[in-house]
Amino acid sequence: MEVGSNYDLDISQLYYTEDNIYRYLANFNTIYTDSGRSALKLLNRLIPCGKILLPSYICESVIHSYDGFEIDFYQITGDLDIDVNDLMNKLDETVKVLYIMNYFGKVKKELSDILVERRKELGFVIIEDTTHSILTRACTIGDYCICSIRKWFPIADGGILYTKEDISMLKENICNRGGVFPSLDAMLLKHMYLKYHVDCNELYREMFYSVEKNFDKQNGIYFISEFSKKLLKCFSIGEIMCKRKENYLFLKEKLSNLGIAPICFEENMIPFTLPFYIKERDIFRNKLIENKIYCAVHWPITNVHLRKNEIALDISKKIISFPIDQRYNESHMQYIYDIVKKCCIYS
Ligand SMILES: Cc1ncc(COP(=O)(O)O)c(C=O)c1O
Repeated sequence: MEVGSNYDLDISQLYYTEDNIYRYLANFNTIYTDSGRSALKLLNRLIPCGKILLPSYICESVIHSYDGFEIDFYQITGDLDIDVNDLMNKLDETVKVLYIMNYFGKVKKELSDILVERRKELGFVIIEDTTHSILTRACTIGDYCICSIRKWFPIADGGILYTKEDISMLKENICNRGGVFPSLDAMLLKHMYLKYHVDCNELYREMFYSVEKNFDKQNGIYFISEFSKKLLKCFSIGEIMCKRKENYLFLKEKLSNLGIAPICFEENMIPFTLPFYIKERDIFRNKLIENKIYCAVHWPITNVHLRKNEIALDISKKIISFPIDQRYNESHMQYIYDIVKKCCIYS
């Protein structure tokens, strides 16, 4: 058995469904891009330039999207909540944009009311990053939302900028890539490897790697590829929600026997992954890799400023995520648990 890492694509399982992401976001004005970064760069054409407040725990690619802005960071706690006092101290009339993130699917209502009040007083714009939380709630208080949708579905490329405002004028800034996106073949190869044992493991891994490198280097803003756009009509949001929740709850329950608890949990959330803290994370992660369980780290920190932030650095050193997405069922979750148990006993 093998669990985690990039999606493979099995076109034989696809069927058209009305219950797709387009319907889920039908109440918003949307622009589908190739990546979350393209959505952010596009939004930069609309938001006021000046001071932006980013959370102190965030992916590097988001920070880079604000090169040229005056960036300040507000503190995130070990529970991956906003440090309200720190944020309130930093939110003054110099702040033009506030960036918020709902980590791993958890959406906090209490703080929203305070922030909405503060926005009324000060007039800043709120960008809500829903990359982890889009299926818990499409939007809470963001004036604009962005999501790296390629992390939720087996599509080669995909990001969304969505809002209640009219954003159609932004479309003239976007290039068309055309039919397919480069990592589509890697996703097909991965499926051939997993299902038919074709000897192409190294090949598709290199392909995925080089596509991610190209995303890092890309300057232009692109629409989502036509193929991914069509694929998105074939994924049922309801089914994905159920599957993720089922997997998450099953694994959470099992892991509690080993004293492992997820960092973020709320009864009504649709989880992105199952994140938890573990000492000597990299040793643990390597043991899992030996057993073909590939866990993501959200996120390694290289940003000079954030490397001085003890809390962010500590989170980044200890955090690890189990995959619980719709590709998997109870047997995969049981496999993860069995291997983790073995690793804990022998560590
Ligand atoms: C929270 C978050 N937002 C946005 C992005 C950017 O998305 P993309 O990689 O599709 O450009 C990422 C990337 O990992 C992310 O983790």
